[in-house]
Amino acid sequence: MEVNNYKNKLSLDKNKTLIVKELVHNHERGGARPAIVMKNVSKTYKSNSTPAIMNISFRVERGEFVFIVGPSGSGKSTILRLLMKEIEPSQGGIYVDGKDTTKLKRHQIPYLRRKLGVVFQDFRLLKNRNVFDNVAFAQRVIGADTKTIKRRVPSVLSIVGILEKHQKFPRQLSGGEQQRVALARAIVNDPMILLCDEPTGNLDPKNSWEIMALLDEINQKGTTVIVVTHNMDIVNAMHKRVITINKGVLISDQKEGGYRDE
Ligand SMILES: Nc1ncnc2c1ncn2[C@@H]1O[C@H](COP(=O)(O)OP(=O)(O)O)[C@@H](O)[C@H]1O
Ligand SMILES: [Mg+2]
Repeated sequence: MEVNNYKNKLSLDKNKTLIVKELVHNHERGGARPAIVMKNVSKTYKSNSTPAIMNISFRVERGEFVFIVGPSGSGKSTILRLLMKEIEPSQGGIYVDGKDTTKLKRHQIPYLRRKLGVVFQDFRLLKNRNVFDNVAFAQRVIGADTKTIKRRVPSVLSIVGILEKHQKFPRQLSGGEQQRVALARAIVNDPMILLCDEPTGNLDPKNSWEIMALLDEINQKGTTVIVVTHNMDIVNAMHKRVITINKGVLISDQKEGGYRDE
């Protein structure tokens, strides 16, 4: 089908530049509204007596890169799931791009989700679709036309360095390659915010660094990036903002987290 022919028709470098320009244009740093505000947010799951998170407050400006760290079970994924409106807070306010997500009507939720790209530890690719179609699927969901799909999918595959594998199926790829595809899928609709839940949790150190470098690159083009991780080597090396959660409580929020040599 279309995947066999698009490659020759496109000048990929030119195409990549175009997409980079779009990203910068759409998400210039320091816009008026913060990307994310959480205000005194608590969440108690129905089946539990103790809250998963308690009185969490933080604000993320557009264009920021933020790590969220903390022990297993401390509430990190709960924070991301609240931002996606997969679950509702028991208390508090959650604002994405200035809008109170707790007040959105059901039919408005797709517009919130379009502002968010999401990457998980276990990739979550469609097993019976090839790389191109895994990424194209995300475009079709938002009703993109064929012309746009043929332009954007190869571009994002080239950004994450996996264009030459566009016809492979997930089972034919390494973990690192699968996570690149998942990352391409997460950015293909040009989200304002990229949420990553332990994106390197299943990867070896080399692939972990490469995925983090890609996240950094995507951030530098203007996308706000939130990364939940256990990988303290990477956190310490990257000198980004670090929010630490412990037992559901925000215990520190450092501008440039990690150890420093000097
Ligand atoms: N769907 C759920 N139902 C009940 N309890 C949950 C659910 N999801 C998470 N929890 C509990 O909430 C707490 C925080 O979980 P989670 O946000 O997944 O932590 P983390 O991502 O930091 O490992 C844990 O005690 C966990 O058992
Ligand atoms: Mg988690």
